[in-house]
Amino acid sequence: MEKSFKRTLVTCALPYANGPVHIGHLAGVYVPADIYVRYLRMRGQDVLFICGSDEHGVPITIKARQNGCTPQDIVDRYHKVIKDSFNGLGINFDIYSRTSSAVHHEGAAEFFRKLYDEGKFITRETEQYYDPEAKQFLADRYIVGTCPKCGAEGAYGDQCEKCGSTLSPEELINPRSKLSGAAPVKKATTHWYLPLQDYEQWLSEWILEGHKEWRTNVYGQVKSWIDGGLQPRAVSRDLDWGVPVPIEGAEGKVLYVWFDAPIGYISNTRELLPQSWEKWWKSQDTKLVHFIGKDNIVFHCIVFPSMLKAYGDGYILPENVPANEFLNLEGDKLSTSRNWAVWVHEFLQQMPGCEDVMRYVLTANAPETKDNDFSWKDFQMRNNSELVAVFGNFVNRAVVLTGKYFGGKVPACGPLTDVDSAALAEIPALRASMEDNLDHYKFREALKDAMNIARVGNKYISDTEPWKVAKTDMERAATILNISLQICADLAIAFEPFTPFAAQRLRQMLNVGIIAGEDHRRGEQQTVNTYPEGEYAALHTVHSGDKVAVEGLCLRWDDLGRSDILPAGHAIGEAALLFAKIEDEPINAQLARLDAIRSQREAEEAAAAAKTVTPQKEECTFEDFGKMDIRTATVLEAERVPKTDKLLKLTIDTGIDRRVIVSGIAEHYKPEEMVGRQICILANLKPRVIRGIESHGMILMAKQNDGTMRVVSPEKTVSNGAEVG
Ligand code: MF3
Ligand code: ZN
Repeated sequence: MEKSFKRTLVTCALPYANGPVHIGHLAGVYVPADIYVRYLRMRGQDVLFICGSDEHGVPITIKARQNGCTPQDIVDRYHKVIKDSFNGLGINFDIYSRTSSAVHHEGAAEFFRKLYDEGKFITRETEQYYDPEAKQFLADRYIVGTCPKCGAEGAYGDQCEKCGSTLSPEELINPRSKLSGAAPVKKATTHWYLPLQDYEQWLSEWILEGHKEWRTNVYGQVKSWIDGGLQPRAVSRDLDWGVPVPIEGAEGKVLYVWFDAPIGYISNTRELLPQSWEKWWKSQDTKLVHFIGKDNIVFHCIVFPSMLKAYGDGYILPENVPANEFLNLEGDKLSTSRNWAVWVHEFLQQMPGCEDVMRYVLTANAPETKDNDFSWKDFQMRNNSELVAVFGNFVNRAVVLTGKYFGGKVPACGPLTDVDSAALAEIPALRASMEDNLDHYKFREALKDAMNIARVGNKYISDTEPWKVAKTDMERAATILNISLQICADLAIAFEPFTPFAAQRLRQMLNVGIIAGEDHRRGEQQTVNTYPEGEYAALHTVHSGDKVAVEGLCLRWDDLGRSDILPAGHAIGEAALLFAKIEDEPINAQLARLDAIRSQREAEEAAAAAKTVTPQKEECTFEDFGKMDIRTATVLEAERVPKTDKLLKLTIDTGIDRRVIVSGIAEHYKPEEMVGRQICILANLKPRVIRGIESHGMILMAKQNDGTMRVVSPEKTVSNGAEVG
């Protein structure tokens, strides 16, 4: 039996306010959460939808330093950009606050204080890197040096972005402080740790035994953390940006960002509902669901729950943590630092009117069980051949023909034929499947169900051809259009979670409202769901429990699949465009933008690669070197080895003899460029047969790390056979 709850608290990972959000964030966290919330609200459930900016942490201080401004400037800027991006996409949190708020600073400090007072932390002194010039401890990200794995310059103390290796600052070659350039020194510092190992047993019972239904990626990560043995985790940092550690003698220390940020969910709820927030966080009747990306699993399934457990006081734990995998863009990993992304605020500006298309495409390709790819061609294709050709086309035909034949009034339904009954019978089944999928966080599948309702409608109207029937049998045409309009009403309900703007346009066409639950956005005073002005102007939305007089016809989730949602005689509105076809031009513009980013990056990478130097080889002796017979020679003849791209056959004069060497330089030199050139060779290399040609030696080349090669020649021509050494 699944537990039943009175209300649902939905949180979305608080995005770092050090940059805008991109479509990977949307696909992984915010779009699925918004779908879930809209769905529950339509089912009449009481839902609170919480998010906000995560405004602490080292990357924000680094970004500020790079831009020559304060961390506060950075978070102010991006908090607004991110907030507007969500609004633009119809993702309307009840509150979108920030962890720099006073409520949060107080709440997070109080949380730490209580755990500290109750002895829930352990204290440890460790040696950390310190910048003796800037007189500051250095976070791993603040230490740069040469990567010990690939030799790249500018690797960070925690990671080399070039080769992707995870590093620790100790491993860096020639480490330097990003602040002053000084060599960092080790210095003792004291921090507080949450002894996660004490919660291991409890976590294991709660999740590994109690929540086997969680997604396999989430469950699997939790299991491997627990199996690996949990360790104490530091909850403070030496940093000057964050929530100050609220105890004496902790000057210069702040709460670790991953300690304070999840408390932000609670703080933001308190800010919105100062009187009643506890009912959302401390009542067993509340179902808590965290929507996050896969990189946040450990924090939401292990660290934050352990913090809440340590705190006690009745805090509830998540009922589920539906974390997604990652989205790729045109086959490459999305990356903020490499600017490989579709930024939401830019998209909203560049392609206005496509908000729903983006929501639709990201859901259809949702990375729920594995990483998935976003491509602009797919975006265009799904819009044109699914949203326009199926959904839009169907609705348009039904609404236009009703206007044409029945003066825009829902015509009466006569006796049903088999075709009618068969079409109508499909919808309750699709609704049931959709509910099952949505209840289990399978948004991609749920969207398929919704789209299948549109397919049923589109096929029905194509098969029954009311535009032909109307010429001979108006009563039959009436029945067909009545049924078609009922299916349109089904779509207005079914698509509200996925494409809310289009669903609203459709409801306007049908001249109906929707009952979509309570709106907490204005805090305690608000009981009736009237969306903010403009946003949902034509909607009649009320909390299903409230006795509020609703004018006109309002749809509820439970209407979905009923064959008489719209009564005969109900006046519908004008046909309007539900989805517009997307031409090649805007798609090509997006692709060109990405191409430009890609080529710029490739150029930068090649330039950087050319500069990187492979580490020195193992020591050798003079004798080792002496074994090699290196001498000068002149190329007499050169030709390509047939059917190869890389090989040249060179005939050379070594001073001792004339011989043939096969060399892999055809990509760097044309045969005619080699003839007459004096070079250096390793003469006594054991002969090898390459492509059927015996090669007697090797040409010395200087190889750069980007793959380019140049021959090594004496600075002035010397006699052939001169020994090099
Ligand atoms: N800022 C984090 C990220 O973007 C998420 C924080 S979620 C919270 O990965 F729980 F800590 F708030
Ligand atoms: Zn590296």
